[in-house]
Amino acid sequence: ANAQELADRLAKEIPDRAMLHRILATTEAEELEVIRAAAERTLLEHCGDTVRLRGLIEFSNRCVSDCYYCGIRRSNRAVDRYTLELDEIVETAKWCGQKGYGSVVLQSGERRDAKFTKLVTEAIKAIKQETRTAELPDGVGMTLCLGEQSPETYAEWYEAGAHRYLLRMESSSPALFAALHPAEQSHAARVACLKSLKELGYQVGTGVMIGLPGQTLDDLVNDVLFFRDLGVDMIGMGPYIPHEQALLPGNPAFPDTETRMQLALKMIAATRLLLRDVNIAATTALQALQEDGREQGLRFGANVIMPQVTPPRVRRMYTLYDGKPCLDDNAEQCATCLEGRIHSVGRRVLRNQWGDSAHYFKRQ
Ligand code: 5AD
Repeated sequence: ANAQELADRLAKEIPDRAMLHRILATTEAEELEVIRAAAERTLLEHCGDTVRLRGLIEFSNRCVSDCYYCGIRRSNRAVDRYTLELDEIVETAKWCGQKGYGSVVLQSGERRDAKFTKLVTEAIKAIKQETRTAELPDGVGMTLCLGEQSPETYAEWYEAGAHRYLLRMESSSPALFAALHPAEQSHAARVACLKSLKELGYQVGTGVMIGLPGQTLDDLVNDVLFFRDLGVDMIGMGPYIPHEQALLPGNPAFPDTETRMQLALKMIAATRLLLRDVNIAATTALQALQEDGREQGLRFGANVIMPQVTPPRVRRMYTLYDGKPCLDDNAEQCATCLEGRIHSVGRRVLRNQWGDSAHYFKRQ
């Protein structure tokens, strides 16, 4: 009876705070299926059934930040540091274009020196030039995931041709944000970066980690409402996964893996039901916790997947959390495997298109 009432309400109302809380709190199988089905219906109605691919190029693990939870934090001396050459970054993006991926993500540790800024600017320009085809006259779409930068740097990269930027809030709670980061990083500075990105014209994405020690359901409800209030176009979020060399204080085994996985799926569904027309990624962290984690993400309302295309020889050095999957598969194997996974949940791949967020065009 409860599940039926929930289904009726989700069919006719956009969730309010109390409903978001109810969605995140339930662990009952019947209600979970109602939530999943409602989120999937909303996705199909507002975004269609295509999954958009973004080849993920993790081109450097050098980082000036010391986020307590992250395996490549600057104080972790156990990692070998690398930065790919411009040519290899461009070649990898070209491979993505030829595979029909339509978009790439340039991700790296955080750096703000002039040499880094220039490498990124040159990479963006070269990728735009060299991935042009009849189907993609402007080359592949490009998302940057390069952390906090000055408005001038964001502007330089936008001028160079990048058009999306993903900067996770990690948590919209100022208290939790402060517990996760050294004092040199601030909640306010991150929000200011997101606003600056929006003003410059980027399609803007953010996201949080789910199941952090000390995080409450109310914190997560606030995260989803924060996404709405900021008016973001894209969401990338996933479960928190402890890393041996970057352990947060508290019990690393709590909440347990299954709870965190379920919470992450419920967060995807809640975000889909509230925001409707944004792009939401089924992130790799979901697959680190469960073999079919990303497919589950798609079933709960996600519509973006970021196939791993980082050259295998450096992939192991870009370990943000323990248990990162696909470490030994080459990009070709990842492409084949992924397509099967997408079809297995009744969806199809959007080929040779940028696959932008529908939300972005409505707010223009
Ligand atoms: N568990 C889950 N996600 C993590 N990230 C970094 N470390 C972890 C971890 N231990 C995520 C952060 C960051 C993104 C690139 O990776 O949310 O923004």
